[in-house]
Amino acid sequence: MKVLVILLFFLNVTCGLKILGIFHYAMKSHYLIGNSIVNSLLDAGHNVTAITQYKPDKPINNYRVVQLPENLEPLKPPGKTPLDIAGVPPLVFSFYLPFFSYQFTEIDLRSTELIEFLKEDEKFDICIVELFLGEALLGVAEQAGCKIIQYTTFDSYIWSDNMLGNDSPSSYVPHSFLYYSDQMSFTQRLWNSVFTIIDKLNYNVVALNFQKYLYNKYFPNARRSFDEMYKNASLIFINNHVSASFVRPHMPNQIEIGGIHVKPAKTLPIEFQRFLNEAADGVIIFSMGSFLDGTDWKIEQREAFIKTFGKLKQKVLWRYSNETLPENPGNIKIGTWFPQRDMMAHPNVKLFITHGGLLGTTEAIVEGVPILGIPIFGDQKMNMAKTIARGYGLQILVPEITEENLSNKINELLNNPKYNENAKRISKIFNDRPKTPQEEVIYWTEYVARHNGAAHLQAASVNLNFIEFNLIDVYCTILVVLLVAFYVWFKITLAVIRCAFSKRKADKKQTQ
Ligand SMILES: *[C@@H]1O[C@H](CO)[C@@H](O)[C@H](O)[C@H]1NC(C)=O
Ligand SMILES: *[C@@H]1O[C@H](CO)[C@@H](O)[C@H](O)[C@H]1NC(C)=O
Ligand SMILES: *[C@@H]1O[C@H](CO)[C@@H](O)[C@H](O)[C@H]1NC(C)=O
Ligand SMILES: *[C@@H]1O[C@H](CO)[C@@H](O)[C@H](O)[C@H]1NC(C)=O
Repeated sequence: MKVLVILLFFLNVTCGLKILGIFHYAMKSHYLIGNSIVNSLLDAGHNVTAITQYKPDKPINNYRVVQLPENLEPLKPPGKTPLDIAGVPPLVFSFYLPFFSYQFTEIDLRSTELIEFLKEDEKFDICIVELFLGEALLGVAEQAGCKIIQYTTFDSYIWSDNMLGNDSPSSYVPHSFLYYSDQMSFTQRLWNSVFTIIDKLNYNVVALNFQKYLYNKYFPNARRSFDEMYKNASLIFINNHVSASFVRPHMPNQIEIGGIHVKPAKTLPIEFQRFLNEAADGVIIFSMGSFLDGTDWKIEQREAFIKTFGKLKQKVLWRYSNETLPENPGNIKIGTWFPQRDMMAHPNVKLFITHGGLLGTTEAIVEGVPILGIPIFGDQKMNMAKTIARGYGLQILVPEITEENLSNKINELLNNPKYNENAKRISKIFNDRPKTPQEEVIYWTEYVARHNGAAHLQAASVNLNFIEFNLIDVYCTILVVLLVAFYVWFKITLAVIRCAFSKRKADKKQTQ
């Protein structure tokens, strides 16, 4: 018995890591990625505590939640719908983010549950932290004494580049808020470069200093400074995969886990199974995520959708939270919720109409379903730019939504086989990997623990400042040397010419 207890004790120490998840950003789509990471780690036998707004319906073994208050609702501008955000220019959005994040981070830091949790002063092996502003919460990791793994809910961005000292050359890596492809014209490269520099400066000068201020205010007894903590990430999980994206540089400690939230398809509830099986001409799934319900569309937009769908042979499943849909032509089924991921695997699904968020588009990519995107904000336009560049979908912008435009795009997607072929081909590449995203998460988390933080993966660029990193000092020195050399050459040449000239003059005088 004693031996068994000792054995179990050792097994626990070597296998079961104590992991703290810091999922501070209250958007459901963000939480779903954090939660998929948690589930992978729980499956591998680790013990997870998560700081998050979301509590599971029933208790889960080895899983504890420290519940944060809702931190986005209080910040919503009154009377504005998500559709109003669609027109906000990227630069305004970029300038707004530091102020927005300052506020939601402070709501988190003031929460009583978090304060009570911090009083317990519990230590952890690994902290998994969402990288979405809110860097002041690294104070929690400081106190927990853990190795830090960050994750993003989208592709590499200036935030993850900045943290690990990675480079995204503006010549072929489009900024996530612009909607360029990786093949940019001169003017696009120009704006991409200028926008990236402005956004980087805004992040480093404004956003990070706001967060540093919060860190110092709420963690006055921290032994390590904000800057030390900021540069201490062991690695970053990136919610992306190159098959559905553009090829770009990554550090060895940036690990792609795109598809982490997509579980194997389950059997459908009978109601949906029947609906899909009976649709001989196929089904279109139309969902803008939790972000925009069907009832949020303006009346003329809703009518454009209904008229367009009415002319199709296909059936449509529309996420629309009302008991009836006005003027339903008969082939549209509405619902507040449907098993989207599982339906996507059904061979009768022909098209997915989406806002272009990474969760839904990834589900479509996994199953090889073509996409029509109606991007609203954030990275959605970039996701659609990738979709279009890879040839498995099209997009329509909100102001362009008319019956004629919708019909054109939907018919092109349904009738031109190239979209379906590309979607199927990319799906094969996406799913062809040495490890599943879940296995990647488990492997690299344990790797960081095994190698005491895996600092050997960290590039020296982490400690360079903007001027050093971009070699601005070196280019300036070269320029000065060239200017001086040119000046000296110019002066010497001038002197030689003058000398020769005056000598000739003097010679002339003598001969006269
Ligand atoms: C998991 O961690 C919690 C809190 O840190 C602790 O109370 C619990 O006993 C741990 N469970 C196991 C199985 O180690
Ligand atoms: C919701 O349903 C009711 C009838 O059940 C209908 O009168 C109303 O127009 C619908 N609203 C929307 C936005 O679809
Ligand atoms: C259809 O979309 C195009 C752009 O693709 C736009 O210029 C045009 O105004 C739209 N048509 C209508 C009738 O809105
Ligand atoms: C994090 O900081 C600790 C203490 O300064 C250091 O030993 C460790 O190597 C750092 N890890 C990384 C990945 O930078």
